[in-house]
Amino acid sequence: MRPSLNFRHTFAEINISHLKHNLRQLRNLVPEGTFFCPMVKSYAYGHGDLQVVSALIEEGVTDVGVALLEEGVRLREAGFKKININVFGPFDLEGAKTLFKYELTPMISDFRQLRFLQQSILSEQQIEIHLKMNTGMNRLGFSSMEIPEIKQFLNEFPRIKLRGLCTHLSKGEDMGCEGSFSLKQLQEFEKITNQFPQNNLVTHVLNSSGLLGLFTLSQQEPWQRYWPVGVRPGIALYGVLPSFKSEKVNSEVIKKLKLKPVMCLKSEVIQVHELEPGESVSYGNEWVAQQKSVIGVMPVGYADGYTRHLSNKGVLILGGKKIPVIGIVCMDYTLVDLTKLLAQGIIKSSQEAVGKELTLFGESKTGDYYPVEELAKKAGTIAYELLACIGKRVPRQYLKEHQ
Ligand SMILES: Cc1ncc(COP(=O)(O)O)c(C=O)c1O
Repeated sequence: MRPSLNFRHTFAEINISHLKHNLRQLRNLVPEGTFFCPMVKSYAYGHGDLQVVSALIEEGVTDVGVALLEEGVRLREAGFKKININVFGPFDLEGAKTLFKYELTPMISDFRQLRFLQQSILSEQQIEIHLKMNTGMNRLGFSSMEIPEIKQFLNEFPRIKLRGLCTHLSKGEDMGCEGSFSLKQLQEFEKITNQFPQNNLVTHVLNSSGLLGLFTLSQQEPWQRYWPVGVRPGIALYGVLPSFKSEKVNSEVIKKLKLKPVMCLKSEVIQVHELEPGESVSYGNEWVAQQKSVIGVMPVGYADGYTRHLSNKGVLILGGKKIPVIGIVCMDYTLVDLTKLLAQGIIKSSQEAVGKELTLFGESKTGDYYPVEELAKKAGTIAYELLACIGKRVPRQYLKEHQ
């Protein structure tokens, strides 16, 4: 089934059952009561924030994470009143007032943010915050040297209540390796948490790779002491398994966890051309037919997130067979080579190709499968970027249970 306002038949199928399956797999790894905060930033990695959050709530999730304050406001305005919305990104003074208004929980990374909170807090108001600590990624977060000053600030303004401490791993995939940077970050974070002896604080560290890696190593030295700790899974929730530097960890993770891809991007052939040798396709005439060829046009381009880096490199699936992208990916169109499919009799004639469904990545209901990770490699990027950049003009079709 296709979405209704979709006259070019390009759409993303979002499998909510797969999302819920992945969620359960990940949640089962951590003991009950561990801080568990699925990341739904950037339109839930392209999958649709409102639908994803709805599904997570149905499964009993109590916390979600967004990058932008604006994303948190959007969730509240959509009616998600009860769930804790943790905001990881920056805000200004106006933003601080907005945090109070919408009852959002900020992850505070610097004194500027603390001062904005202090300046905008109204009498009788209070707010819970988490402190984001820099343990080596050097992106956001306080340094451990700033802890005395933070404590002084929090003592002076007791209505700004410390609820949690967190950090972010820069290289979760290296868990289990000699000289692991993640291990250094865990050690550094432990030193930091030791300086906050309050026993009601939540602590959270692990992204998808961190969670899977540390879970796998949780019975072993020197990792054991750091497990369990709060988790913030993103990409794994959407069905993409991180790949680990340590072969052992990798194979353990693959054995233990069966994730299912949530998004499947689809389009169809809208026109075919029969080319003579020497004829070319698309901008710049970069791809030139070496033989008599049949090429197809699909109505999806870089404006939809099918990146131009896939020019002459992308692969997609038609009728269970891989076919190559040829020529330059345009803003609205991409061209594919159908010659082999005709030669193999998978398509009987050029004209029969028109209207054939194409699976650009993911697992389709009709049984085609091409992992987004592989397509991302062809584009010289990662699955995160491909998923998060699927354009707003691509309708999302939500498949619910048993559909
Ligand atoms: C602060 C924070 N936590 C967790 C995540 C989730 O990471 P992943 O998608 O690798 O699980 C992200 C994503 O980049 C993040 O920025």
